[in-house]
Amino acid sequence: MILGMGVDIIEIYRMRDAIKKWGDSFLTKIFTPREIKYSTARRFAPQHFAARFAAKEAVVKAFGEPIKHPIRWTEIEVLNDEEGKPMIEFHNDALRLKKKKKVGKVVVSMSHSENYAIANVILLNGKR
Ligand SMILES: CC(C)(COP(=O)(O)OP(=O)(O)OC[C@H]1O[C@@H](n2cnc3c(N)ncnc32)[C@H](O)[C@@H]1OP(=O)(O)O)[C@@H](O)C(=O)NCCC(=O)NCCS
Repeated sequence: MILGMGVDIIEIYRMRDAIKKWGDSFLTKIFTPREIKYSTARRFAPQHFAARFAAKEAVVKAFGEPIKHPIRWTEIEVLNDEEGKPMIEFHNDALRLKKKKKVGKVVVSMSHSENYAIANVILLNGKR
């Protein structure tokens, strides 16, 4: 059963400008070391950062109640499997909220182009 769904779209230039303006302090506030390593190793890093940020926002939307359950951005971590398929790992408060809401599986899909990044997240109560 679907427990929640969220979608988010980000303009790449906003991510590029934020990185340019605030650098590492911005990146480490939003992204984990693994997300930073993955994205900075790629040719168009802001696209990958933007897609990850969209995925984090999509998770928050899927959970609902963002005011009641504030989560740090780094507690929602976007990783890729060996084929490049994205997945989400939850940490600390985000993991507690996931358990509280009885979320079994989280499905995420992301896409990015020169100007936009988009992510869609679905929360399921079962494991498949
Ligand atoms: C995986 C694939 C579909 C990605 O599509 P794309 O148009 O190149 O790139 P998009 O911007 O839409 O999507 C990129 C995101 O897809 C996701 N992705 C990568 N591999 C994936 C996979 N195996 N399964 C699901 N999602 C995947 C990643 O999240 C990636 O973003 P990230 O690197 O920042 O994490 C594509 O690269 C691919 O391998 N296709 C295989 C078939 C093929 O080569 N077709 C070409 C002729 S039609």
